[in-house]
Amino acid sequence: MNGIKIRGAGRSVPSNVVSNRDLERKIDTSDEWITSRTGIRNRHHCSGQETFSAITAAAAREALAAAGVRPEEIGACIVATVTADTLVPSAACVLQRALGLPEDIPCFDLNAACTGFLFALHTMECLLNASPRKFGLVVGAENLSRCINWEDRGTCILFGDGAGAAVVECREGWPSISAVMGCHGNDELLRLPGAEMEEHSYITMEGTRVFKFAVEAVPWCVGQVLERTGRKVEDVDFFVFHQANARIIDLVVRKYHIPPEKYYKNIAEYGNTSAASIPLVLGELWEQGKVGPGSRILTVGFGGGLTWGGAMIEFV
Ligand code: COA
Repeated sequence: MNGIKIRGAGRSVPSNVVSNRDLERKIDTSDEWITSRTGIRNRHHCSGQETFSAITAAAAREALAAAGVRPEEIGACIVATVTADTLVPSAACVLQRALGLPEDIPCFDLNAACTGFLFALHTMECLLNASPRKFGLVVGAENLSRCINWEDRGTCILFGDGAGAAVVECREGWPSISAVMGCHGNDELLRLPGAEMEEHSYITMEGTRVFKFAVEAVPWCVGQVLERTGRKVEDVDFFVFHQANARIIDLVVRKYHIPPEKYYKNIAEYGNTSAASIPLVLGELWEQGKVGPGSRILTVGFGGGLTWGGAMIEFV
């Protein structure tokens, strides 16, 4: 199978910032508790014109511009999300219309919670191998602020909104992204009921148990991707982890002796943005010139489902 590489990345977050101080005025919490337990200081919440669909389109346009790829060259479009504006049409079909993507291509949403962007990258690699077009649009986007239970201080402080996008290219002879993925069906630890399925469609989470799952899953994924690709930590230019809790990232970084210049945390500014989290980091790294042509990234995600995954992806 031919592999994919990232040709351009983009991102968009709503301008409405909700700080820990704002939350102190709303619920029984403190900036000190949130910062020390999670590393989060701010999160951005959609409001007014800055809807899920608007930030999704903005991130995708930025990625297309960064890649120098025209909408008509796109061979497939996947939006990883659990909070699209509508279930039908899918966010990907809404995006198709907004961008003017071709009609003879698959556009669909993918739900793997916070691992969604990774599952989408792997799916895109498979799709582009079977497509006459060689570029794909992979987006991770969330509007989690609409599923927050403000009565639950253990979860309402965690989540933010945002969108990140990558234009990927598939060429003969390029290495596969060597994705490792897994799921463990569990309907207790992390839940977001479907519309009208329960009284309120809120996120519920058993945080301590999810934390324990994450600190096993993330290092395991790193090890698996290194083994599959025959690479060592030194061969990787950047490690991009799902931003759910700064302490989870600190643990894996210590375990693999990853130097500070090789990983990145933006959780302080955005909180946990689920499927948007990994592409938001990629978009920021791209903007700041920290990654570019030739960079090799090892990325790992985990989340509800339970789901987990990792991959090695290069920039072209
Ligand atoms: N402000 C102040 N106190 C709070 C609070 C808040 N926002 N939220 C919870 N608390 C309190 C609890 O009531 C509890 O008090 P008690 O001991 O008097 O009962 C205490 O803090 C500890 O709560 P607990 O839930 O055990 O905290 P924790 O150390 O596990 O931290 C999380 C909670 C959510 C930050 C942490 O479990 C976590 O990050 N889990 C992983 C989440 C994750 O990765 N999710 C992503 C999946 S994609």
